[in-house]
Amino acid sequence: MPSLFSAFELRGVTFKNRVSVSPMSQYRAQDGFANDWHLVHLGRFVMGGAALVYAEATAVTRDGRRTPGDLGLWDDSQIAPLARIADFITREGSVPGIQLSHAGRKASERRPWHGETPLDDEDAAVRSEHAWPAMAPSALPYAEGWPTPREMSDDDIQAVISAFGAAAKRAKTAGFKVIEVYAAHGFLVHQFLSPITNQRQDKWGGNTENRARFAVEVAREIRRNWPEDLPLAFRLSASDWMDNGLTPEDTVDIAIALKSAGVDLIDCSSGGIGGKDRPQRMTIEHGFQVPFAAQVRSEANIPTMAVGFIWDAAACDTLIDRGDADMIALARELLDDPNWPLHAASQLGRNADHTLWPVESGWWLMKRDRLLSKLGLR
Ligand SMILES: Cc1cc2nc3c(=O)[nH]c(=O)nc-3n(C[C@H](O)[C@H](O)[C@H](O)COP(=O)(O)O)c2cc1C
Repeated sequence: MPSLFSAFELRGVTFKNRVSVSPMSQYRAQDGFANDWHLVHLGRFVMGGAALVYAEATAVTRDGRRTPGDLGLWDDSQIAPLARIADFITREGSVPGIQLSHAGRKASERRPWHGETPLDDEDAAVRSEHAWPAMAPSALPYAEGWPTPREMSDDDIQAVISAFGAAAKRAKTAGFKVIEVYAAHGFLVHQFLSPITNQRQDKWGGNTENRARFAVEVAREIRRNWPEDLPLAFRLSASDWMDNGLTPEDTVDIAIALKSAGVDLIDCSSGGIGGKDRPQRMTIEHGFQVPFAAQVRSEANIPTMAVGFIWDAAACDTLIDRGDADMIALARELLDDPNWPLHAASQLGRNADHTLWPVESGWWLMKRDRLLSKLGLR
């Protein structure tokens, strides 16, 4: 049995293999509501054999959306369309997860293909998409040309922590089985964690323990609203790749603090904090963030997920086998091939006669294979 296709358990949830669909924003929601696009987008990965299927970054408050097209769970009325999706994922044998998010100073942004720059009057005129004010731990703009966010008051901080808890409760009602907090890529929780964006002098800023306080309080509030038997994950940027930014060693300390607040898995990404200088010291290669997952797993003693530029089935099997990570997450590779898990299983000798496929496809593929070999065509 290849390690990539062995089962994995977290709390009361069993994943049939180690492949997760990394959260992928579609920017197709209307006022935060999910629709058929999201069902089909996520459904194709369920049919492709992924064990854990994450719905994209989902805002816990209206103002916490990154773009006007983000999903949201700030209101009970947003539960029903997500419940339909979670139900489909569960019925077809995968585990539905959802990523909860607040954009902080990256709120009120254009979609990637509209420029990934702040919304302005042009968006209001062309698409009726109006800019809204953003807030952050410190009043520092994301990059040149971005508005300066309001520095969050204690009341703002408490309100966002409560909003994460309320959204977790709604995620449970919708039928999701895993929550991941988006604490990476320069969004609000990461803005608190990183010394580059958090220059507060109060209990929410300063040393690593203080900067991690917001993340820890978010985790505790979710745990108060999320069943004991369901896993809670955090996606962290394990390195800011910048001088004076977060390092993998800080991330180990943060992971230890999160673990004691009830977090079960760290999804190890990196980068995205923004700012003026943005030195990109990253060397991008296959699995370039895997060492972060390995370090956090061994030094914080917590399960991890590896993500980023991963596509090779044998390499994935090896990294799970070696204990670098407990799961892997794929994004763009799955856009290219939603059936990647099934193809990877075949490549690793775990899918003879297409038995892992949904029978509606697998039966026909098996018949075709037999015919092709009988005719000597394959
Ligand atoms: C279309 C798209 C949307 C994304 N949206 C999110 C998101 O909502 N939340 C998140 O944590 N990462 C998001 N990401 C980043 C991916 O989850 C992933 O970490 C990144 O693409 C690296 O993995 P890959 O090399 O397999 O694509 C997105 C990536 C893509 C391609």
